[in-house]
Amino acid sequence: MDDLTTAGFQTLSDLESAARAKLTDPIWAYVQGGSGNESTVRDNVDAFRQWHLRPRPLAGIDAVDLRTSVLGETVSSPVYVCPMAYQALLHPEGEAATARAAAAAGQLAVYSTLSSRSLEEIAAAAPQGRRWFQLYLQPEFSASEQLIRRAERSGYSALVLTVDAPVLGPRDRQTHDGVAIRSPVPIGNGPGVVPPARAPAFQDGRYAFPPDACVDWTVLERLSRVTSLPLVVKGVLTAEDAAKAGDLGARAIVLSNHGGRQLDGAMTGLDALPEVVRAVGARTEVYVDGGVRRGRDVLVALALGAKAVGLGRPVLWALAAGGEAGVHRLLDVLNAEVAVSMMLAGRRTVAEIDRSLVVRRPA
Ligand code: FNR
Ligand code: LAC
Repeated sequence: MDDLTTAGFQTLSDLESAARAKLTDPIWAYVQGGSGNESTVRDNVDAFRQWHLRPRPLAGIDAVDLRTSVLGETVSSPVYVCPMAYQALLHPEGEAATARAAAAAGQLAVYSTLSSRSLEEIAAAAPQGRRWFQLYLQPEFSASEQLIRRAERSGYSALVLTVDAPVLGPRDRQTHDGVAIRSPVPIGNGPGVVPPARAPAFQDGRYAFPPDACVDWTVLERLSRVTSLPLVVKGVLTAEDAAKAGDLGARAIVLSNHGGRQLDGAMTGLDALPEVVRAVGARTEVYVDGGVRRGRDVLVALALGAKAVGLGRPVLWALAAGGEAGVHRLLDVLNAEVAVSMMLAGRRTVAEIDRSLVVRRPA
């Protein structure tokens, strides 16, 4: 009775507690953990607290409209589901449950190369849902190309290249708790599909990384040559790289530090937003993820110029807590929080959430 049990959840943090109670320690470490001492994981949440809202009451609002568009596709909310690997660790249905819930809500979801269900199964679970495919480059380019072909055939409407994980960040918590990313959960897209490489080899004073970790910007042109899907680059944090991505044909970028799981100490996507939007906002859509836990966080990100906002770990909590119904409840709760915040802030539409809504918190 997933529906009844999840109906009681009032906030995202209720879902977090419910997930904690259900999951084993190693899986909890996999979900919650970051790299190094996890300072970036904490900073992602804290970054939103550095902004105050400047509400404009008496705006005569009788309804608010959360609809917006991403790369020309209409969605019912600016919040989308981030790509996250191995969702069967949280619920037996894995990404199929996520897909049905996101589709029912009319929201975009992005699916990882390392999904527990195959990209075809995910598409079949919610044929009408809006879905993008997140690519982890494979050691052989031809293997990446095959994944792209499959995504094209299965109705994925954009290709999201994650660029912040040529090797995995040091996941101390996962290592201590004894769970490796090469989990017993099979990778749904096939036995030949591999996650980013792990440890480097030390020899003669040099750390050598696996050859496939050595990637540069030319990969964008290479991808553009093999697909006509719009390209989204996930995991940049600077105006320089945002501009470069745009120059090389990316239609959108995701400002992200991978939920603090890659470069510990990296800046937050939210802090990167103002400079990046100033530099490329006119020609490239800019999305942000990391640390979004409340409706007011979504308003802050939109006010700083994000076109859409990615939700990561809360989706995994919701999956663990209640499968498809849990994710459905999560999206309902967060969208309702966004709607109430908009009403109280005096903003009727997403387009009305402009820079004048936020001010840096006094030091
Ligand atoms: C991720 N993330 C991620 N990103 C990606 O591009 N491909 C992937 O396979 C994964 N896998 C993954 C697994 C888990 C367990 C987590 C928590 C995250 C990163 C994800 O897309 C996103 O950038 C962050 O999770 C956003 O931060 P929050 O919302 O988790 O704070
Ligand atoms: C992670 C990888 C798989 O963050 O993206 O765990």
